[in-house]
Amino acid sequence: MHKWILIKGMILNPQSDKSCEFIKEGVLILKKGKDKYTIADYGRRSLINDYEKKRSLKVVDHSDSLIIPGLLDLHFHWVQKDVTSMPKDNLLKWLENFTWPTEANFKDKKYCNSEAKEFSYELIRNGTLGGACYGSIHSHSVDAAFKYFKGDYFVGNVLMTMNSPEYLIQTQKQAKTLLDKLSAKYKKNYVVTPRFAPTTDEEVMRHGSKVQKKCKGLIQSHLCETKNEIDWVLSIYRERKGFEDVTSYSDIYHRCGLLGEKTIMGHGIYLSKEDMQLLKKTNTAIAHCPTSNAPVKDKGLGSGLFDFKQAEKNKLRWGLGSDIGAGPFVSMLDVMDSFVKQNKKIGNKAATYTKALYRSTLKNAEILGIDQNTGNFDLGKRANLVVLKPLKLSASIKTSEQALNEFFKAIKSREEFRQAVTEVFYEGQVIS
Ligand code: GUN
Ligand code: FE
Repeated sequence: MHKWILIKGMILNPQSDKSCEFIKEGVLILKKGKDKYTIADYGRRSLINDYEKKRSLKVVDHSDSLIIPGLLDLHFHWVQKDVTSMPKDNLLKWLENFTWPTEANFKDKKYCNSEAKEFSYELIRNGTLGGACYGSIHSHSVDAAFKYFKGDYFVGNVLMTMNSPEYLIQTQKQAKTLLDKLSAKYKKNYVVTPRFAPTTDEEVMRHGSKVQKKCKGLIQSHLCETKNEIDWVLSIYRERKGFEDVTSYSDIYHRCGLLGEKTIMGHGIYLSKEDMQLLKKTNTAIAHCPTSNAPVKDKGLGSGLFDFKQAEKNKLRWGLGSDIGAGPFVSMLDVMDSFVKQNKKIGNKAATYTKALYRSTLKNAEILGIDQNTGNFDLGKRANLVVLKPLKLSASIKTSEQALNEFFKAIKSREEFRQAVTEVFYEGQVIS
């Protein structure tokens, strides 16, 4: 292996919602450490002069391609790949009719492993190199993900102890045993994953909170995705001891010790004032999944559109996720495009591609707690990068927003995003 790799390309280095370095005639310098490459330098082409005489240098030419950091998906269900192509309906009906029967198939370990292998290929193919992931109720769905996925993944088995079909339910004891066993095995990479409060009882959720404190991992669940889900969850808990007076969905999780800065709640479309206050107070993050929430005609569940401006006004942390299989495609590029287009449609100009890229890379890295090592090309970070399909950019293109606009304009159908990734480097090695 070469000590140095020099990659020519059009570099996009996200910094914040509004700022992304764009170096049109750029170069990235990777340096090999003990077993992986890190970003040693980047800049304009003249930087080549400083490195071209290095012994053991490999030059890779992607001059006509945008190069972005490895994409991170803040919310996806790897066991729902086959659900993506099934009919969409409102959330609760869709879970009952399509999602839960599909997840039940993962009871078979052999099937589970072969699906994980296939899904791992899909992630790489689409430039996703990490994220927060839901398995099924079965422990081997977590084992298989850790075994096959290449990247920075945080995975949990969904906990389902009530209001679930008999073919996809566990006892409290089984759920607690899995929490203990898998958190001890995967430590910080294990995610305590109550599916959502309607299907996970308070005792198991409280045990999850204890387990998370011990293993210092993440917690993930769903929150305020649809209105009838909120009505349902409140009606369930108001009949349970200690919850008679709950006034918000978030308060149920809060009373079980599940909110905090290591917690990622999916969706949060219909947050009440009290929800918002609790999320803010506890510094809980939201995973916004625009393709999943999009109208049924656009292959989503039609849940609504997350109000990111309101969230930001309340200083909530949030990032983007695909929510496979309610979201129809693995591609985070598709998610970014949907975020921009849905918001532009309602006149929300703050929803730029630059913002979408930041919320699919560096911001997600921050929420996952891995931004010291990944999320953008800051020096010393691991060399995780995605080379996009070649693109001719005219001389007038000077900003990240213009460049990204050109890239997305050139994609004619959503299915094309999968082919819009040319090469993927993980820790400096091509894995695509
Ligand atoms: N709420 C509870 N389970 C799920 C799920 O699998 N997908 C989505 N989108 N919402 C959920
Ligand atoms: Fe989800």
